Amino acid sequence: MAEFILDNILRNNVKKLVPYSSARSEFEGDAQIFLDANENSLGSTLNNNFHRYPDPLQKKLKQKLSTIKNVPVKNIFVGNGSDEAIDLLIRAFCNPGADNILIFPPTYGMYEVSAEINDVAVNKVLLTEDYQLDIEAIKDGINDNTKIIFVCSPNNPTGNLLKSESIEWLLKNFNGIVVVDEAYIDFAPIQSWSQRLSEFPNLVVMQTLSKAWGLAGLRIGFAYASTEIIHVFNKIKPPYNISEATQQLALEALQNEAQAKEKTNVLIQQKERLMKDLKQFDFIRTIYPSDANFILVKVEDAKDLYHYLISKTIVVRNRSSQPLCENSLRITVGTPDENESLLTALKNYEE
Ligand SMILES: Cc1ncc(COP(=O)(O)O)c(C=O)c1O
Repeated sequence: MAEFILDNILRNNVKKLVPYSSARSEFEGDAQIFLDANENSLGSTLNNNFHRYPDPLQKKLKQKLSTIKNVPVKNIFVGNGSDEAIDLLIRAFCNPGADNILIFPPTYGMYEVSAEINDVAVNKVLLTEDYQLDIEAIKDGINDNTKIIFVCSPNNPTGNLLKSESIEWLLKNFNGIVVVDEAYIDFAPIQSWSQRLSEFPNLVVMQTLSKAWGLAGLRIGFAYASTEIIHVFNKIKPPYNISEATQQLALEALQNEAQAKEKTNVLIQQKERLMKDLKQFDFIRTIYPSDANFILVKVEDAKDLYHYLISKTIVVRNRSSQPLCENSLRITVGTPDENESLLTALKNYEE
């Protein structure tokens, strides 16, 4: 087993950094009068709401999430979407112009974009034809400057889970950070990798409220990791990265887990129905298995079908430019009515 030592891969400037110390993180207690943060003491035009800076560590939100996800508060980072966690990881561990990350296309686009913004190189090893990790090729894709491997499971845009044995191989044999992006985990019939944090000091699990919880507009994502890695996140994040409004609304949403589960079940049923009904169309060549809230399909002519659906006011995502996704469209599962409209449009395309 490769040895993971956080200090060996943390950037020097981050190691040496004295983080910004905000007024609200320095004081803990029961004061009545807050004259410490240059806020507007008279309040705002919103019934005096939101004139105070928010909790920099989102304690109430983390408490609730901890109960739902069975992850200790000390192992949770809350980000402005999981996209913030991706960016912070790259900034913490990858030296611009020197280090690289490893990704497995076709996959979620932000790993590459975030790396490029930070002038960090991107090594790519394609998934296999059946969209699984190619461990033999991965061995050659890792070098001394590889600091982070991003694994997306269920994978976007292919929809499938990656085999646990392969992810475990990475965790055991790579001495940098292995990120398992579980944005779509609530639609999948498996346990989260967050339940195995204690086994792997180099594991970072990402989840989000944007998918199963239906809160893409709120921008809340999570990273679960060792306390040492969470400390790094907290050291370099903007002090007030989650607004008070967002913290309040996210907490309110998390109170209703049953409703979120119900919606997830409806979407899973709708996905199964779509998978079945899409089989009737000859111009759909392959319907890939999905453990997410979307389906990837390979069609006869993706560009033509994409534009036809637009003409029917239905937008899907054309993923044909991605490797191994020639002529492929990614279709998000809609409401029952939306799915019906999609199927009707597809029937008319055939004629
Ligand atoms: C795999 C994956 N990770 C992360 C994200 C972004 O999540 P968030 O909305 O929390 O930034 C997406 C969004 O589509 C995604 O598909």
